Amino acid sequence: MTGKKQTLGEFIIEHQHAFKYSSGELSSLLNSIRLAAKVVNHEVNKAGLVDIIGAAGDTNIQGEDQQKLDVYANDKFIQTLTRRNIVCGIASEEEDSFISINSNDENHQNKYVVLIDPLDGSSNIDVNVSVGTIFSIYRRITPTGTPVELKDFLQKGSAQVAAGYIVYGTSTMIVYTTGDGVNGFTLNPAIGSFYLSHPNMEFPEDGTMYSVNEGNYLDFPLGVKKYIKYCQEEEGDRPYTSRYIGSLVSDFHRNMIKGGIYMYPKGSRNPNGKLRLLYECNPMAFIAEQANGKSSDGYTRTMDVEPTELHQRVPFICGSKNMVNQLEEFMQIHG
Ligand code: AHG
Ligand code: MN
Ligand code: MN
Ligand code: MN
Repeated sequence: MTGKKQTLGEFIIEHQHAFKYSSGELSSLLNSIRLAAKVVNHEVNKAGLVDIIGAAGDTNIQGEDQQKLDVYANDKFIQTLTRRNIVCGIASEEEDSFISINSNDENHQNKYVVLIDPLDGSSNIDVNVSVGTIFSIYRRITPTGTPVELKDFLQKGSAQVAAGYIVYGTSTMIVYTTGDGVNGFTLNPAIGSFYLSHPNMEFPEDGTMYSVNEGNYLDFPLGVKKYIKYCQEEEGDRPYTSRYIGSLVSDFHRNMIKGGIYMYPKGSRNPNGKLRLLYECNPMAFIAEQANGKSSDGYTRTMDVEPTELHQRVPFICGSKNMVNQLEEFMQIHG
């Protein structure tokens, strides 16, 4: 990478005029995410060398075994986001309920809430496969001067002001949107800075990859089963290629670059799907739509789903527009 590329810090400043709301605050918030990403990246990178892989010994509210890195990443993001006078509340996959930030915000003047999946794909840590972080940012809807409330977090995805992910992969990247397209920045570890490497990212309209945990096939709705068979048929550009990492961030990232569809449908074991609406599906849906892709539960646009609880799950279908449309047609016909 040459020194001529713009750094993430420069990019944030150059584009802050386009933010709908007070630009300095959102810039500062994005900067704190950038900082936490570097710290977590450093720890993820030495996972095999220090005692950071394996289970932490606790389960989170969703009944999942927490990995040590789930807990580490959760703590680092919360610490970093709490330090600046911008965020009034945080909700995380690893926390039972939302955190109201009182330490730096006694008078409740901070305007933003952040929802995070601190470490996505954490079952992949022990085997050295890419993991990620997902974040979603909203303006609070309750008035400043009062404590943040649950309803500040239960906003529809369409109200997001920014969303993004970090992929700790063969290289580490931040990809985010503030509603004005999607840009990707790659970390140069020697210098410790992110550089704009993927400007204006877009899903190809058509794709040839499908990503789904096919072990659950027998449990899928008929429409999804038929669509998977359609992907496997020999006709035109089919059969499509099956690619599934098991880290939403990495699967999404590959599909956005190459063209593809990600599916986590419902089934009897997961009656509402597995992925969490507020800190997994909505941020990815916002990025997908900003990148000319599409996201739904098979029928309804993800960002139009009315949230009812913090850790709510929804079926999640996301990717290249024409592929998602095709799957929705199968769902319409077969259910
Ligand atoms: P997390 O590690 O944050 O709990 O998320 C796991 C999610 C997601 O990353 C991935 O796409 C999916 O779970 C994989 O689920 P399966 O193992 O059931 O395929
Ligand atoms: Mn988890
Ligand atoms: Mn996740
Ligand atoms: Mn997670």
